[in-house]
Amino acid sequence: MNQSVNKPTIVSMPGDGIGKVVLPAAIRVLEEAGFEAEYVHADIGWQFWCEEGNPLPNRTIELLQQHKIGLFGAITSKPKNEAAKELAPELQDKGLTYYSPIVELRQKFQLDICIRPCQTIPGNPLNFIRRGAGGAIEEPDIDVVIFRQNTEGLYCGVEWTNPPENIRQAFNFHPKFKDFAGVPGEELAISSRIFTLAACERVLKEAFSYADKHGYKSVTICEKPNVLRETSGMLLRTGQRIQKEYPHIQLWDTNIDAMMMWITKNPEDYGVIVAGNMFGDIISDGFAGLVGGLGFACSANVGKEVAVFEPTHGSAPKYGNLVPAIVNPLAMILSGCMLLEHLGEMEKSAAIRRAINGIVSDGKAYTYDMLRLKGGPDAIQQGAASTDQLAAAIIERLGR
Ligand code: NAI
Ligand code: MG
Repeated sequence: MNQSVNKPTIVSMPGDGIGKVVLPAAIRVLEEAGFEAEYVHADIGWQFWCEEGNPLPNRTIELLQQHKIGLFGAITSKPKNEAAKELAPELQDKGLTYYSPIVELRQKFQLDICIRPCQTIPGNPLNFIRRGAGGAIEEPDIDVVIFRQNTEGLYCGVEWTNPPENIRQAFNFHPKFKDFAGVPGEELAISSRIFTLAACERVLKEAFSYADKHGYKSVTICEKPNVLRETSGMLLRTGQRIQKEYPHIQLWDTNIDAMMMWITKNPEDYGVIVAGNMFGDIISDGFAGLVGGLGFACSANVGKEVAVFEPTHGSAPKYGNLVPAIVNPLAMILSGCMLLEHLGEMEKSAAIRRAINGIVSDGKAYTYDMLRLKGGPDAIQQGAASTDQLAAAIIERLGR
């Protein structure tokens, strides 16, 4: 039998800036860990907006439709007016509007569940520390996995400045809207927060099943149901219903604002966390900050058919063209581990994770962020490992 028939094909979408640096580094690590796959390159990002008026070309969508699994680096987004100015001259005045291709990807393929683990790696100099009783220094061992609803909520794209008349009419049926009825259209901006029961159920079922499978004792719904009674309320009520199927897992209900305080007080008490799109984004950045920041924050966007794995950082344009590259590839490599686990390659993922833990705890190959240096071309002279050196150190350690 031809071996390659069984090899998965991964759609590789480096995108912009440091996406082009960290993605190849992650693929090298996956290959060295023995993961056999084909990689096809797909275009995405700023260059394709400027040249074609579309940062997510159809050919990229087709590749993902065909192969189902993507690895994504990062893209550059710019405000609407700035984006319009950078379009090729022949595309100016065509009424094109820039949209973020990663948000578009999530919606197009219904990648409705975003999983963002934030786990302490022992020895990471960027780990959060706090004062305990008697002034003792404590380094909590954080092991949190955030499930963010990824397609709805405040990201649903239903919004207006100067809403059309029929929208104003519709809102007039709501008693609270009358306070705004006299506001001139151009002074009125509305962004809608839409939740559906189906999406709430899906993210909660995935979260509970994950908690069950991995031995987490609690699922926390992190919303604001006392104020956002309908949307947050729907997620909470659905969570209470689903929890009945998992009596050994506690359901906690913590408001997003309180959560931002608790994360520095007792982050180690939390396990699986579920939130809507915006609050999930906020809380996952909050927790990421406790376990090393953007250089460590990995994620999976999972739909029923397609899954795309990406670091949560952006394209960090100021570092995009440095030679040698200095950024931390771990967020991208850890996203690669999530890809392996999605495909059932548990051993290979575990081997990479062991190698990362070894490198982080022995401290010999730290990128500038772990050394708390200022980023920039001088970082290497000051003792930082380059992106490639860190990737090479992980590869060297695989199998040990
Ligand atoms: P960013 O995440 O690109 O960078 C912020 C800062 O974090 C960097 O300047 C750098 O100091 C640090 N950083 C990020 N990744 C790092 C890494 N791997 N290793 C070490 N340090 C790292 O966010 P920023 O500057 O707000 O946005 C830059 C561009 O990226 C914008 O155009 C933004 O729209 C886009 N963006 C794209 C995202 C995506 O592709 N999913 C997510 C966030 C921002
Ligand atoms: Mg974010």
